[in-house]
Amino acid sequence: MLSVSRLIKVLIVLLLCCQLQSALPQLDQQPEATVELDVLSCPSSCVCQYAAFNELPIARWVNHMTNTDASDDASDFLLATHIKLATCLLQEEGETQTLFSALPIDLQALILLHTGSPGSQLTVNTSSLRALNQLSTLEIRGSGTTTLNIDEPLEFLQHANFEQVRLQASERLQRPQHSKLPSDNYEYKPPSDMAGNEATPKYQLKFEPEAAVEIMSYAQYVERLKQTRMPSFWGWSQLEVLRIHNCQLSELHWQMFDGLTQLHHLSLERNGIEELQPFAFSGAPHLKSLSLAHNTVARLYYLGLAGLLELETLNLADNHLERLSESSFPPLPRLLKADLRENPIMYILPATFWVMNDTRELLLGSKLAALELRSWNSYGQFDSLHKLRKLSLGNVTTASLEQGVFKGLYALEQLTLRGNISSVQFDAFAGMEQLRELDLSHCGIVELSMDALLGLKCLEQLNLAHNNLTHVPNGLLDDQLRLEVVQLQGNQLRTLPTSFFQQPRLRVARLDQNPWQCDCDMSNWLPRLTNVMRGPSVERCVRDINGEPMLCRHVASYETDKKLVPRCANYNGRSVYYVLRRQLHCGAPLMLAPSRGHSTRGLPHWRKLELHQQQQHKLGSKKKQHSHKKQRKSHLAQRNNLEHILKEQQQKQQNEATSAQSDGQKMSNEI
Ligand SMILES: *[C@@H]1O[C@H](CO)[C@@H](O)[C@H](O)[C@H]1NC(C)=O
Ligand SMILES: *[C@@H]1O[C@H](CO)[C@@H](O)[C@H](O)[C@H]1NC(C)=O
Ligand SMILES: *[C@@H]1O[C@H](CO)[C@@H](O)[C@H](O)[C@H]1NC(C)=O
Ligand SMILES: *[C@@H]1O[C@H](CO)[C@@H](O)[C@H](O)[C@H]1NC(C)=O
Ligand SMILES: *[C@@H]1O[C@H](CO)[C@@H](O)[C@H](O)[C@H]1NC(C)=O
Repeated sequence: MLSVSRLIKVLIVLLLCCQLQSALPQLDQQPEATVELDVLSCPSSCVCQYAAFNELPIARWVNHMTNTDASDDASDFLLATHIKLATCLLQEEGETQTLFSALPIDLQALILLHTGSPGSQLTVNTSSLRALNQLSTLEIRGSGTTTLNIDEPLEFLQHANFEQVRLQASERLQRPQHSKLPSDNYEYKPPSDMAGNEATPKYQLKFEPEAAVEIMSYAQYVERLKQTRMPSFWGWSQLEVLRIHNCQLSELHWQMFDGLTQLHHLSLERNGIEELQPFAFSGAPHLKSLSLAHNTVARLYYLGLAGLLELETLNLADNHLERLSESSFPPLPRLLKADLRENPIMYILPATFWVMNDTRELLLGSKLAALELRSWNSYGQFDSLHKLRKLSLGNVTTASLEQGVFKGLYALEQLTLRGNISSVQFDAFAGMEQLRELDLSHCGIVELSMDALLGLKCLEQLNLAHNNLTHVPNGLLDDQLRLEVVQLQGNQLRTLPTSFFQQPRLRVARLDQNPWQCDCDMSNWLPRLTNVMRGPSVERCVRDINGEPMLCRHVASYETDKKLVPRCANYNGRSVYYVLRRQLHCGAPLMLAPSRGHSTRGLPHWRKLELHQQQQHKLGSKKKQHSHKKQRKSHLAQRNNLEHILKEQQQKQQNEATSAQSDGQKMSNEI
């Protein structure tokens, strides 16, 4: 008998591992199983453990959902507390009541697994768990034929996770007594609904047809609930984290989550949800994170997300949304991150994000549809995202990225585009004075305006890799004094402006995979910049005398790799440095005069040209009107020139002496 129960326990442990791995593929490493087994008071079909919450398998989904909180001392305390967990295998109907009554009464967490042979039905009533009133965490993993019958609220639960379990309300379930509808005191209307309002003429943007809003009366609702047995969590008053995945919970109604005033994290992934009913979540007004990812929501109307005034993260990834407009979202004043990836959104109507004026991160783009970026007359599609730091747009298709497309993104620090963008016009990123990282790789860019980067004052990383660039316009990087990383690999480049390597802070210049036409203009290329790539950032700490870290920060690391060396298409694909040294005998690097015209930085190209012409003109007539500074500069240039000429002569002599020798070696000495 003992050995049979041992066997069951081994089975449970194995099952748990497999299920966890398949259900949560994206989560971090397995928590260590340093757990005490509490055999004495544990039923034979269960495994009981006593351990810190964080070390138990249930901590995975709780942590995964709550890790949006930057620092939450209260939950840290909870995670370190030791709790008692039972993991039980459910098999036959009728057995459950005996099982639950045999569980230790002070149990704090319970995992129920139903493997279910084909056709086997299992129903668990919530009322049968009520004796375990110290339970804070409940997880039920079914097999699709498992049902949780909600006949009484579990008011003591803090965390609940249901997977592949059909949730239904019992006819006996007590309904809330109040009959106030959430629409009664909801006043927001999207700008276009305020038609005729003279004060806001800018808002009259009738792009979307009116959507009918149907809100049932309270009596109708109760009637319908009884018919459909739609679940309701009314009375689960301690609930903080609720996760319902793969439960076919396709229809949501506003009273399902009504009264969940403690609920902070709600995840409803993979339930086949097609529509968000008006006020679906307004009964949980303190929600901080909401995930509706991997459903089939095709249309978003602002009342669907109404009332979420504290929401910080919204995940709508992998749904069927085709377009977004100003009537898609209600005000979400605390929203920090919105993930809308993998929706077939083809365009974004103006004013869509006017309600997200505090949002920091926005992700868009899908394999299913190309996103067309454009400016709608005077409106920008990203208007009002004044605090956005990070914007990522995938599968963008737009022949020409024009000025005004990104209007309003004043605080953006990181912009990533992917897709098919043939040309980038002047001032395309104007106004993004905080932008540090611009990633335009894999965009099929053929044409880049020399003023494309105008107005970007803080750019540190520029990625133009894997495009179709045939040249880098002269002056493109003139105003970029903070550039550390420039990636141009995988283009059709043949030459580079000679001023390229004058970037004062340059650490990485990826130039490989281009058909370079090598000549002595490349003499100032530096292998320590081109044969290097940026590695993962590493933490550097200042430590106190005990070796404890006091002050830490992440710094970039750089890795040298000979494979990154740029190669000459006109010299059989040999390394640029080899060709310069051994075949072209170019001599010392060209000393370039210190870059002229600091005062023209930040001016558009036509203005620079104008100034240049004026200057030439002036120089011609009044050569002697030099300022003190300019005189010093020209002295310096002269000295450099002198040194350069001397060096060149020396080099020539050397070259003549060694050329006979090196000619013989050059074929065998390739890098
Ligand atoms: C669950 O409750 C229903 C009544 O709502 C009852 O008929 C059924 O026997 C209960 N099932 C279990 C397993 O307790
Ligand atoms: C966002 O807009 C609302 C309403 O227009 C306004 O009350 C709020 O101050 C704005 N927030 C920010 C950060 O601009
Ligand atoms: C972009 O969208 C189109 C459909 O419009 C699709 O065929 C293509 O595969 C998508 N591209 C990428 C890289 O996902
Ligand atoms: C990219 O866009 C151009 C038009 O702007 C189109 O002709 C071309 O077929 C597109 N390429 C791909 C791969 O979608
Ligand atoms: C871009 O380059 C790829 C190969 O690098 C080529 O197949 C493609 O036709 C080019 N597209 C354009 C528009 O030049």
